[in-house]
Amino acid sequence: MKEQMHQVTLNFADGVSRSFSVTSQNSILDAALQAEIPLLYQCRSGSCSSCIAQLSEGDAVTRQGASSTLLASEYAAGQRLLCLCQAQSDCTFELGYGSEVGSSTAREVNVFVDSVERIASNVMRLVVELADGDWLDFRPGQFMQIDVPGYGAVRSYSPSSTAVDLPKMEFLVRLLPGGAMSGYLEERAASEDVLTLSGPYGAFFLREEKRRAPHIFVAGGTGLAPILSMIDALRQGSGRKPPMLLSFGCAVPDALFCLDGIELRQQWLPSLEARICVDREPREGLLHGSPVSALREGDVSAETVAYLCGPQPMINAATARLIELGADPANIFAEQFVPSN
Ligand code: FES
Repeated sequence: MKEQMHQVTLNFADGVSRSFSVTSQNSILDAALQAEIPLLYQCRSGSCSSCIAQLSEGDAVTRQGASSTLLASEYAAGQRLLCLCQAQSDCTFELGYGSEVGSSTAREVNVFVDSVERIASNVMRLVVELADGDWLDFRPGQFMQIDVPGYGAVRSYSPSSTAVDLPKMEFLVRLLPGGAMSGYLEERAASEDVLTLSGPYGAFFLREEKRRAPHIFVAGGTGLAPILSMIDALRQGSGRKPPMLLSFGCAVPDALFCLDGIELRQQWLPSLEARICVDREPREGLLHGSPVSALREGDVSAETVAYLCGPQPMINAATARLIELGADPANIFAEQFVPSN
């Protein structure tokens, strides 16, 4: 098929626009990066959703034969993964982040294991510290990739700490039977081990420009990690804190973790309300049900900004519920986590 050139325009959320040319056979992400446009991306193969954008004009399609994480309904609504996307005409995309965001490029660093501690039936807390001379920065909500020593495997985790805590970073790791990181943490990890870590990655991060709006956080399991980082970043920021609602849930009480930390944050932040939920075996002080069922009439206003992190069914249910309660879909940001063994 004859290649054609098309003009692509990318509109960043801060009003900056950038245009460049791309052939109909090239990925739009590749062409944009060649033109030194600061886009968020990570896997370049359709599986991480970091490069998601909204097609607002023109025609652009997913490369034939490529598989992506986009739902058919999201594709029909104009969402595209730029790493798999080919322009069929001149086209325009809207990006959900400002032009300065993608310029903090990922880097590879060494970290030392500081501590490893089991904090629930199936969750470990891993604290690491950047090696001397190594540095990176990240936005609350973004994730890092960690090489699991001795397993030849790489795993992705969002810090539950913030950039203010650097050179230390804290991660909450869900233990999975046969999982590489689970095996390492349970059997081999020792203080002063050196790990290779790269990041930051991902388009799930606290939107600074919306920090005055009421916030809702919905977290399932270790999806709590990036949410704690976001809450702490709001706490560390200057000025009045917005109303915040955290709805956090696990299957059973034994699987819950960080409850003391959540309570402490409520003392520091009187505008933070927490609802802790379990699917089974409810006890006093816990709600029975999912963190989505804990959302109620009156929780949401038209300005509410929502951040969701957990398994895909929870994200789908929370998105639908928040929209039903009056949230603007443009103000709902989500990160799905996919357990890997
Ligand atoms: S970069 Fe991962 S889906 Fe495009």
